[in-house]
Amino acid sequence: MKFFIDTANLKEIQEAHELGVLDGVTTNPSLMAKEGISGKNNIMSHYKAICNIVDGDVSAEVISTDFDGMIREAEELIEIDEKIVVKVPMIKDGVKAIKYLSDRGIKTNCTLVFSAGQAILAAKAGASYVSPFIGRLDDVSYDGMELIEQIVTIYQNFSYTTEVLAASVRHPVHIIKCAEVGADVITAPLSAIMALLKHPLTDIGLEKFLADYKKTNQ
Ligand code: G3P
Repeated sequence: MKFFIDTANLKEIQEAHELGVLDGVTTNPSLMAKEGISGKNNIMSHYKAICNIVDGDVSAEVISTDFDGMIREAEELIEIDEKIVVKVPMIKDGVKAIKYLSDRGIKTNCTLVFSAGQAILAAKAGASYVSPFIGRLDDVSYDGMELIEQIVTIYQNFSYTTEVLAASVRHPVHIIKCAEVGADVITAPLSAIMALLKHPLTDIGLEKFLADYKKTNQ
């Protein structure tokens, strides 16, 4: 399972990269705004800065909601770096744009997916990734993990090549469950990735090993 980090924060991206487990980055307009990045030129150069840190795919989201606008934006975004994947919302023109871009060999990530039907459309349009939002479904009393499992099964049934990129991951248990059901990728905040490290018995065990070593090596 690939690990993407879901942030536009360069320090966090660098930290995850240095850990050695980072396969890519996802961003969205809210995450860019959180870092105070605004204005087309600043946004474009921020994407470039992200691409300079990571080795894998970097999702950059369009803000147009019409087909022509999305294609115009996509063409500019892919000029930034070959790592750029064009993130397109799951709306009617978005599906058309994904089909247009994928027919031309441009990688896409279909975002804001909340149902299996939407995931089927994204795959049929040729999206490279589909992004179902687990946490936001959990927030409204639906089981986000059930959706991931359903999409994984459907894609396996028809050998769709679209990768299931579990998004809106909030905590380490989401990541573990995604691995169990066979999601291809998770995108998570740094805190959720780092939380995978933690176990109290590891800390207690290490403390004891070091104390015992010290006793006999004074
Ligand atoms: O990748 C989508 C993600 O950024 C949404 O996460 O926590 O805002 O639901 P969240």
